[in-house]
Amino acid sequence: MLGLREGSALSVFNLEALIDSREQQILLAWQQNAQPWIRAIEDGEIESRLAVTNQAIIDAVLAEPTQTAVDIGCGEGWLVRSLTAHGLDVLGVDGVPQLIEKAQASDLGRYRLLTYDAISSGQLSGSFDAVICNFSLLGDQSTLGLFAVFSTLLNANGRLIIQTLHPLVACGTASYEDGWRPGSWIGFKGDFAEPAPWYFRTLATWVALFRLHGFQLTHLHEPIHPRLGRPASVILVGQLAQ
Ligand SMILES: C[S@@+](CC[C@H](N)C(=O)[O-])C[C@H]1O[C@@H](n2cnc3c(N)ncnc32)[C@H](O)[C@@H]1O
Repeated sequence: MLGLREGSALSVFNLEALIDSREQQILLAWQQNAQPWIRAIEDGEIESRLAVTNQAIIDAVLAEPTQTAVDIGCGEGWLVRSLTAHGLDVLGVDGVPQLIEKAQASDLGRYRLLTYDAISSGQLSGSFDAVICNFSLLGDQSTLGLFAVFSTLLNANGRLIIQTLHPLVACGTASYEDGWRPGSWIGFKGDFAEPAPWYFRTLATWVALFRLHGFQLTHLHEPIHPRLGRPASVILVGQLAQ
């Protein structure tokens, strides 16, 4: 997974530290890049979001009667605001203080500053109709930690809704297997600092994560970019198996 050969001199302790440091780099990168990210969202810099993926996640949430939702890794809060404007009671959580402060400046939605570690260790409770992660599951262990508690955040008929980069498209020319990939801000105009690595998962791995954590996959959407004719993302929707 990490490209380490058997018999490598790296001790288990160092291996854990390396995994940990990649997870920390993700959070650190979002802290360092919060301001340019806010500007990029305000200026509508990400074409695929405007063309297809923003509406696709809203449609996925509104496809079933939904009154309450939590948006995990909500960023500056655009999706919380949109869903609140549709009449939902939405809580946004994110681990970056600048993003949560920006989100709280709006009158729409409720927000809490929480890292994924804090959520995984039980610091978020609730019984929501929907748990939403919109392009916010970027790490390896941090994602697994959230999957371990998703079921505790949902009511009996609640839905887990995850939008992520489409693995076939995001894979590029690298081999199609799970693993850490270097990050990049290519295509963004703002003054972005160091990008963080991110953890690539194949479509089969995403589907298996749902099943392994007690979810039955009810929908899998592949929103197509209208100009490129290729999937801009994948949206996976699951419900707890009865
Ligand atoms: C690509 S942005 C997506 C933001 C938002 N969901 C959206 O659609 O615009 C990823 C978000 O995940 C958050 N995030 C990443 N790792 C996190 C962690 N370990 N704890 C809390 N938030 C984290 C970042 O702060 C950032 O806001």
